[in-house]
Amino acid sequence: MSELNCLIFISGNGSNLKNIIEKIDSGFLKNVFIREVLTDNPSAGGLKYAKEKNIPIKIINDKYNYDNISSDINRNDIGLVVLAGYMKILPKDFVNNHEGKIINLHPSLLPKHKGLNTHQRAIQSGDDVHGASVHFVTDELDDGPVFIQGLVEIKESDTVKTLEEKIHKIEYQILPIAIRWIGEKLVEKNGSNFSFRGILETEPIIYL
Ligand code: GAR
Repeated sequence: MSELNCLIFISGNGSNLKNIIEKIDSGFLKNVFIREVLTDNPSAGGLKYAKEKNIPIKIINDKYNYDNISSDINRNDIGLVVLAGYMKILPKDFVNNHEGKIINLHPSLLPKHKGLNTHQRAIQSGDDVHGASVHFVTDELDDGPVFIQGLVEIKESDTVKTLEEKIHKIEYQILPIAIRWIGEKLVEKNGSNFSFRGILETEPIIYL
């Protein structure tokens, strides 16, 4: 795999960031480097995982804004921006300037349940299955091409909390696979769709 320099965006607990770091340490993600962790939330709990690893942290605000990030992406050969629990909507021009380089982890089986409170909405809708998706980001919210999903069954006894735990487990599988595929150039955005190249070692749909 050639070198893949990444920026990871988080807003909260950062358990997916922690998992990506673990997958780099374990060798599952070879030649993947987290160059910076960025957040809109200076008190995001997940920032501690970046600090532990001496990964630079940037706070996105009026002084350090998306234009600055864009320049950093171009200057530092950043190949991938990962939205791993980032709760802000990116500006359209930022997304369009880095088309095909931004992926988002979303806690639902897109196109179902775009937006917030997905676990609650899945239960309220009487869904039998729920899950998580990774998609290329476009300038429409939670709308870009999905290239990997993980599914979990919703049981009668499930609550928002139990579903959240199940979804996290599936996210810890699919997001590293998504990053690995991009690093190995197995998947790329192709207009409003995506294409796979070569043979994938894992099916793009994973069941917990
Ligand atoms: C994850 O479940 C992710 O799918 C979701 O936030 C959670 C972050 O968890 N993302 C969104 O809702 C984006 N709209 P984490 O901070 O523990 O990684």
